Amino acid sequence: MKIKKIGVLTSGGDAPGMNAVIRAVTDKAIDEGIEVVGIVGGYRGLIDNNIRRLDYQFISDIIGIGGTRLYSDRCKEFQTEEGMQKAVETCRINNIDAIIAIGGDGTFRGATDLTLHGVPTIGVTGTIDNDITATDYTVGFDTAMNTVLASLDKIKDTCESHARLAVVEVMGRDCGQIALMTGIAAGAIAVVIPEIEFDEDAALERILSARQKGKRGMVVVVSEGVYHTDENGNRIHYGEYFAKKVSEVTEIDVRFMRLGHLVRGGHPSLRDRLTASLMGVKAVELLIEGKSNIVVVEEDGRYVPMDIVFALTTDRMYKNKLQPGDLDRYNSTELDIMKAICDKRATEIKELYDVANSIAM
Ligand code: F6P
Repeated sequence: MKIKKIGVLTSGGDAPGMNAVIRAVTDKAIDEGIEVVGIVGGYRGLIDNNIRRLDYQFISDIIGIGGTRLYSDRCKEFQTEEGMQKAVETCRINNIDAIIAIGGDGTFRGATDLTLHGVPTIGVTGTIDNDITATDYTVGFDTAMNTVLASLDKIKDTCESHARLAVVEVMGRDCGQIALMTGIAAGAIAVVIPEIEFDEDAALERILSARQKGKRGMVVVVSEGVYHTDENGNRIHYGEYFAKKVSEVTEIDVRFMRLGHLVRGGHPSLRDRLTASLMGVKAVELLIEGKSNIVVVEEDGRYVPMDIVFALTTDRMYKNKLQPGDLDRYNSTELDIMKAICDKRATEIKELYDVANSIAM
């Protein structure tokens, strides 16, 4: 089928660089003689038939703007058969031949459902968390890390002045990469991530020893995905718990901070604009080649297509969330590839974590 008209949407948590993907997709598609429409508000817009034409004027100045000019949503209704039927009908009445969906794993689950319902869909990764195992990189990650780093530098200034320790919680859902990399870059005294068990006693000793050696300001970077469960079974974010703990067992003045959604905004960095542009162009090329149910992933610096279901299954394998039957459709070579992707990520995180600890004084 020759593609004449495509729809673009952004879904899930917004990420800096999503606009740059929209721009690249629109520009490339128009150049190829394809009409482009934006679906406003993610999958919600597909259900509600909230569609607008995208042209050179719309994309004229959006490459460097944070957030998403097509708006976003986490749409529960899209996960129902009724919602899906409305979405498919929206595509039919608007003559939309295919969709490019920008977002994270939830977005890709929606994309594969849409393909199964007859609307060819291609995914482009856009999430600050960098938590999609099948790709080395997701658009938004670099900007978010730079925002965290700038914040940590500022927090360190005041910690140094007052000889305080700041426990700073950063986003990342179940993925600790933002905390890990910014922790190293900020010279954190400890980093706490969900992927690797935290040695609390060793960290407390290190903090005390650093203070005895004259270190004044200190930061601990904690990923939001780590929790502490108390003796009554109550679960709190580990950062809040650890701030109290440091305060109790040392004489150090401690402050807890949650950077939260601050980290999701701001002008996309060069890395994010570049990756967004390359992935966006690749997505359009793949659609023109007749591909669908694909996500564009970064693999050792190249932008390549990967089957969405394969990518989602690999992700579940890495996160120990495989469902019965998930692996049945794959042969041994494919399973080996999945395992290699998971091992690569686990090894990278372990290596970074060891470095973080080895230079944490
Ligand atoms: O997935 C991106 C992300 O920002 C996570 O880091 C965070 O856990 C979550 O989204 C927050 O979601 P919401 O914007 O719905 O509060």
